[in-house]
Amino acid sequence: MLTPRGPKDSLLPFCGLGGPCPEVIPIITPQSVNCGSAEVPLRSRGARKGVRKAAALAGISARNASWRSAMSVACVALGLGFITLAVAPLTHANENARALATANAPAAPKKVIIDTDPGTDDALAILLALNSPELDVRALTVVPGNVTAQQGLENALKLVSLTNRCDVHVAGGAQHPLFQKLITAELWHGANGLANVELPPSKCKADPRFGPDLIIQMIHESPHEITLVPVGPLTNIALALLKDPSIVPLVKEVVIMGGSISGGNVNAAAEANIYNDPEAAQIVFHAGWRLTMVGLDVGDKTLYDQAHLDQLSKTHGPENDFAVKVLTFLLGQEAKYGAGGGSPMYDPLAVGTAIDPSIVSTQPMHVDVESRGEFTRGETVANRRNAVERNVLHGDRYVIEGIDHVDPNVQVCTGVNAEKFLQLLNSRLAGK
Ligand code: BDR
Ligand code: CA
Repeated sequence: MLTPRGPKDSLLPFCGLGGPCPEVIPIITPQSVNCGSAEVPLRSRGARKGVRKAAALAGISARNASWRSAMSVACVALGLGFITLAVAPLTHANENARALATANAPAAPKKVIIDTDPGTDDALAILLALNSPELDVRALTVVPGNVTAQQGLENALKLVSLTNRCDVHVAGGAQHPLFQKLITAELWHGANGLANVELPPSKCKADPRFGPDLIIQMIHESPHEITLVPVGPLTNIALALLKDPSIVPLVKEVVIMGGSISGGNVNAAAEANIYNDPEAAQIVFHAGWRLTMVGLDVGDKTLYDQAHLDQLSKTHGPENDFAVKVLTFLLGQEAKYGAGGGSPMYDPLAVGTAIDPSIVSTQPMHVDVESRGEFTRGETVANRRNAVERNVLHGDRYVIEGIDHVDPNVQVCTGVNAEKFLQLLNSRLAGK
């Protein structure tokens, strides 16, 4: 079971195309990190080695030894369901108490950390966040996805520089997904990830801290105040959780761009951010914190079209003009490859949801991330009824004896006021 497999029977056929496959292939991973289940192989030395391998694949092996042992210990806890069970009730009780205490207080800006793989729509999301008084952007942590980790860090630094916001911490993080090779998306985002628009070199410097460490530290410094907004693969957030599960009840909320309950964009089943690190996504989805999934279902309705672009083109400023170039590129891509009607504003919508949750409507659902399916690896599998049939073995067959409830772990966005959001986006970029 723990024997490395060759490309022929690997779950990841693309592995064999660009060089040798990782020694440990993803089929091992779910057994190591499948939250909420007590899978025996996790306790074996081989599985723990697999988890350490995940740390190495994610590019953290050279950091410090505490990272590696934290990965092993926390993964055991996650795999056995301890973390979810221990923190979820506490989280809800604390949430209620805090809601009562702050009911009449004036709204302070929400402290947010954006974990990003910039990326064209990431760039627009960052500009939206940095120009929105409702948000206090504390940090950008960079994850590989649309572009490599190095290119992503450069892009993030150029973006904070463009907005004259060197006060925002920008930190690099993982170098790779936990258990698979990185898949970059220059096809969609341009060779530099920013629509081939060349921004001036950054005046801002990178924070030397490792992104997941920065996330952990900031959450402890502002308990119950930080909203995490991951808009790339969930590698960094999973690493933070694995190293320090105590952050779970200290996070105010997690609003992710990722997933779908109605088909994918990389293939029939999976959305790109989840597909790029399904094991990380499963860890994040089952951590036991309040999590809102802003997926393709709503993102695909927020179509930025030529009329929106014409509107934004009437105003000017360095950020405004950069956004117009990026959006022009995106509309071109959409005309070439898309379904028509405009370019979906995936990542900006996650930020928009953090700014104004009334933009979307949500339904609580139990969501798991498929990691073993032949055609469905990376699919977010949502139980809309939060119920499963109970099958009991009677002789040579199973009989359905009842229905068991499953707890929802995700607020899934199912509706969006698209025009309200697109106008918000344009209004925040206009003239900047
Ligand atoms: C997501 O994938 C990336 O290409 C975008 O930046 C967005 O985060 C959409 O599936
Ligand atoms: Ca992104």
